[in-house]
Amino acid sequence: MSLHLRYMSAADVKPVVAIDHQAFDLPWTPESYLYEVRESTHTYMVVLDFEQEQAPLLPWWRRLLGLHNGHHAHHDIAGYGGLWKIQSEAHISTIATHPDYRGRGWGEILLASMVRRAIFLEASYVILEVRVSNTVAQNLYTKYGFVTRRVVEKYYRNNNEDAYEMELLLTPQAIEEFEARFAALLARHPFVDDYTTTPHPRSQRYLA
Ligand SMILES: CC(C)(COP(=O)(O)OP(=O)(O)OC[C@H]1O[C@@H](n2cnc3c(N)ncnc32)[C@H](O)[C@@H]1OP(=O)(O)O)[C@@H](O)C(=O)NCCC(=O)NCCS
Repeated sequence: MSLHLRYMSAADVKPVVAIDHQAFDLPWTPESYLYEVRESTHTYMVVLDFEQEQAPLLPWWRRLLGLHNGHHAHHDIAGYGGLWKIQSEAHISTIATHPDYRGRGWGEILLASMVRRAIFLEASYVILEVRVSNTVAQNLYTKYGFVTRRVVEKYYRNNNEDAYEMELLLTPQAIEEFEARFAALLARHPFVDDYTTTPHPRSQRYLA
């Protein structure tokens, strides 16, 4: 099995929206994702893809699928996230892993990767909002040094739940500590990283 971290594309929106509906009471619409991926100039959406080798296929299945050898690979989106960068602020707009793939360290990869993207975009701090009842996500953020800045009352419109606004200041010392933690994470869960230091495809369009 191999993990691949990369920018979200329009082709990913359908599976991402399917996970979104399982992960959130207030999921985003497909149009919102398409806007973030195609139009917004300050958004850095990410997906974590994994590829699994499948068992060898019988010869007649191989012929039917047009494959030349006995193995084929299965791709799936394990999770995704969204980051906005406006001036010195980086804002994590969303993060979720597929319910079947939670507890494997993959949510941590997504969070750490967005923090690293923010560092390479030269943000001074990262903020996010989280439901006061969502202790799983709060644990993840606290593990990476986020602290609660304030309570935003009735932030979530489905049930008027309050949010904690959490912040990670990107001081030189925090960045140094983060980089050590990121290297350890990469050693624990090797993944191909085409996101944290890779320019957004939209910038390459302008260079071409
Ligand atoms: C929050 C979420 C992304 C975490 O993803 P995940 O892949 O399960 O998390 P990981 O396996 O990478 O765990 C990372 C850390 O999260 C915390 N965590 C994960 N599962 C937890 C659980 N069941 N109970 C308590 N803390 C938990 C821990 O701090 C954990 O670190 P540890 O393994 O060193 O204890 C995932 O639960 C999710 O998609 N939730 C629904 C969407 C959501 O709430 N998003 C956040 C919006 S603000």
